[in-house]
Amino acid sequence: MIKLNISKTKEQSMDSIVNKATQTIKHAIKQRGEATVVLATGMTYIDILDKLAQPQNNIQWDKVTCFHLDEYVGIDESNKGSFKRYLKEYFANKVTNLKAFHYVEGLNNPEDEVERLGKLIQNKTIDLTFAGIGNNGHLGFNEPPADFNTTEAYMVVELDNVTKEQQFSQGWYKSMEDVPAKAITMTIQQILKSKLIICAAFGSGKADIVAHVVNTKPTNTIPATVLQKHDNCELFLDQEANAKL
Ligand code: GLP
Repeated sequence: MIKLNISKTKEQSMDSIVNKATQTIKHAIKQRGEATVVLATGMTYIDILDKLAQPQNNIQWDKVTCFHLDEYVGIDESNKGSFKRYLKEYFANKVTNLKAFHYVEGLNNPEDEVERLGKLIQNKTIDLTFAGIGNNGHLGFNEPPADFNTTEAYMVVELDNVTKEQQFSQGWYKSMEDVPAKAITMTIQQILKSKLIICAAFGSGKADIVAHVVNTKPTNTIPATVLQKHDNCELFLDQEANAKL
């Protein structure tokens, strides 16, 4: 079941997310001496990651390892659309002494990269995974129809046209043709291994897909519906994203 947290404004919702994430990371450090967190990107997470990185949260970043949810194949940080570039700009450059950040390297051979990341993440306890919901219901870059069954931690995927249009219209790429055709994503099964999943969606543009994600029986044609199967997933919405629920 997905636990809903509805706030009036995006600002209030982001504060609740940062509170929950901060508590979760601190609790993990207290219990295990370290925390492991998976970071998402997209318009939704720009301000959330910025707020999480603020020093007043008093997070011991030297005890935190981060993994990267998804990345395009064939581009690196010199490209405006690169998620590695985004995660550095909006998060990693703002925190000091992060224990480790395992980025998905878009220029590496994709199959080798999937294997490399798989080895790095296997046997890791994941305390917290951040996720957003794509306009087509994708989770990470698990595009519909998503593979709900693979036990690999990462996989190579073809990007859906809806996703390419979303990335282009958000201004990350100059044209549709510039949006890479492929990506590497953390798989559904790996996302579900996280002890807590925080999912966020803001604005009226997400209202329809959010209603499907919460109310449609889990189906790989709306990949984020799989979150219903997790026993500790919290969905944070502002009033606009909640409008069709
Ligand atoms: C992007 C990323 C996801 C993100 C989702 C939502 O394409 N692959 O990690 O969570 O789609 O993006 P946005 O927040 O811009 O709507």
